[in-house]
Amino acid sequence: MTAAYLTKKQLNCWLPALLLWMSAGCAIDPDIPEPSYSVPIPEGFPAIPYPDDNFPDAGRIALGKELFFDPVLSVDSTVSCNNCHLTQWAFADHAPISAGVEGRLGFRNAPTLANVAWQPIMTMDGGSPTLEQQFYIPLEDFHEMAFNMVLLTDRLQADPYYTDRFYQVFEDLPSPFTITRAIAAYERTIISGNSKYDQVMRGIANFTPSEQIGYDLFFSDSLACSSCHSPPFFTNFEFLNNGLYETYYPDSGRARITVDPDDAGKFKVPTLRNIAWTWPYMHDGSLPDLATVIDHYQNGGSGHRNQDPRVHPLHLNDEQKQDLILFLNTLTDDDFLQQSD
Ligand code: HEC
Ligand code: HEC
Repeated sequence: MTAAYLTKKQLNCWLPALLLWMSAGCAIDPDIPEPSYSVPIPEGFPAIPYPDDNFPDAGRIALGKELFFDPVLSVDSTVSCNNCHLTQWAFADHAPISAGVEGRLGFRNAPTLANVAWQPIMTMDGGSPTLEQQFYIPLEDFHEMAFNMVLLTDRLQADPYYTDRFYQVFEDLPSPFTITRAIAAYERTIISGNSKYDQVMRGIANFTPSEQIGYDLFFSDSLACSSCHSPPFFTNFEFLNNGLYETYYPDSGRARITVDPDDAGKFKVPTLRNIAWTWPYMHDGSLPDLATVIDHYQNGGSGHRNQDPRVHPLHLNDEQKQDLILFLNTLTDDDFLQQSD
């Protein structure tokens, strides 16, 4: 527990202390319980870096989950987070670009939300520092929920069900603080770490010979896939250009934020967990299947000036390409995909 994290019990202690001025003082109860809930972490994953004002709490998580699946968050109450981040598809969807209210299309492919708790920065261009803040993007984007925080707060405060629920959890009304804390608390429980790959690493399953060849290729120096898509999250979280387009990226990626031409076409390396279920691929959903993705790397990328040198022509035969795909399939976590809403 860090110093900046104050429990309600500690805060309640401050007011009387102030009133009594120096006379009484205020001893902090040494038995104050630690955060009320512990999120199970897969073996081999590091601890979750929780922000000081949003330690895991069963009430916040349950409330955040209700909000995530509730279209009440969108301007016309038709679109929920789950419209584009579907549980059965690893919290992604299969549209190249997903539709928001009135079928409006933005310009990016919806990514999986698996293991977002560990992401040091949010969205493909790093436009948002935290999960709490990221909520404002879908909420206010004209192509997603087209609503805004002031009106959402008013709407939830006028709803007896939600005022009651927020009171149970926060002893407070729906507000920008409580809404964003609940949603982010839930998102930090969207965890995938029990794929066949994980089970092999834990010594409780074995790769087939083809999967093993694919694994060796993936982790080889010549292919270098694992230097960008590094375990355990199968991303190193860096912004890199993998040579998707030769000259012009209609979506300039990281450069949208930094306005630096050296960042054009750089995107946060995406996780490959559950990759067999999150087609189509790349930031714009332009590659339909894994065979096309492997061909992209086989051809060495398109040669954009910011292309990372680790993307270079490969010399895989058809069987090796297939083995690489079979290895990628071992990153599927069936328990995660089959969890119910
Ligand atoms: C209309 C489809 C749509 C809806 C609705 C939607 N999202 Fe997304 N989401 C996307 C797309 C597309 C991206 C990628 C945007 C980007 O990277 O700039 C994304 C990105 C994210 C990310 C960042 C993931 C990462 O890897 O950096 C989070 C977190 C997220 N969404 C949560 C939510 C939440 C919470 C809601 C509901 C309040 C929501 N989304 C509603 C389409 C949607
Ligand atoms: C230099 C770093 C780098 C290397 C090396 C690399 N990738 Fe990628 N990979 C990326 C980036 C960046 C993206 C996202 C690009 C975009 O969205 O435009 C990506 C996207 C992908 C995707 C699509 C993910 C999705 O959700 O859309 C797959 C699959 C993939 N890479 C597999 C591989 C394989 C297999 C290899 C090895 C042959 C490999 N990558 C090598 C950086 C790299």
